[in-house]
Amino acid sequence: MLTYYTATTLDGWIADPDDSLDWLFRQEEGDSGDFGFDVFMARVGALVMGSTTYEWVLAHEAAGNGWPFALPTWVMTHRELPARDGDVRFSSADVRDVHAEMTAAAGGRDLWLVGGGDLAGQFAQARLLDEVVVSIAPVTLGAGRPLLPRRLDLELVAAAVNGSFVSARYRVAGPLLEDRHR
Ligand SMILES: NC(=O)c1ccc[n+]([C@@H]2O[C@H](COP(=O)([O-])OP(=O)(O)OC[C@H]3O[C@@H](n4cnc5c(N)ncnc54)[C@H](OP(=O)(O)O)[C@@H]3O)[C@@H](O)[C@H]2O)c1
Repeated sequence: MLTYYTATTLDGWIADPDDSLDWLFRQEEGDSGDFGFDVFMARVGALVMGSTTYEWVLAHEAAGNGWPFALPTWVMTHRELPARDGDVRFSSADVRDVHAEMTAAAGGRDLWLVGGGDLAGQFAQARLLDEVVVSIAPVTLGAGRPLLPRRLDLELVAAAVNGSFVSARYRVAGPLLEDRHR
């Protein structure tokens, strides 16, 4: 099971045009229950992210304490990027091959697509994205890094209010119905 688990603004951006997440970290979290990060991570065995997200993590979270994820992590890039002490694997392979490698490494656990949105779209196009779990912050930005720039149908599975967020879990049904017979 591959899940795109992320926070988003109400107007569908996961970062502002300068990759800032300041709008996110000032929100009140509340008790996230089933949608909480720790509950989610307990099921995860491998991660995949794009290079902008990787560089953001290196510049912010990893700056003081080292690489924050103990799990095998694929970073999609066409460039040579600095490695860190964790189990980080740089790749520009087909997402189907990456998905197979992650599944083998995850030992029966789920896979987390950290971001960004186009990468989630690549997996969705290959029919490999199973779930989207979003926490919607009460913010609009007008521009930024898109949540999921594809035309898809999703099915709402669960929703909850967590502090100032609305969290929702969707099953990815497939390409938008209107596109399926083109
Ligand atoms: N709101 C949240 O909770 C949340 C969650 C995750 C991320 N974020 C933020 O959202 C932003 C996402 O940035 P982004 O939209 O630029 O997306 P991204 O997926 O992080 O990075 C995109 C880059 O990844 C590389 N890439 C993507 N697909 C590839 C493929 N198939 N093969 C090889 N390389 C590939 C390309 O870079 P190169 O080939 O040039 O390296 C591409 O320009 C970041 O600022 C991140 O910090 C926010």
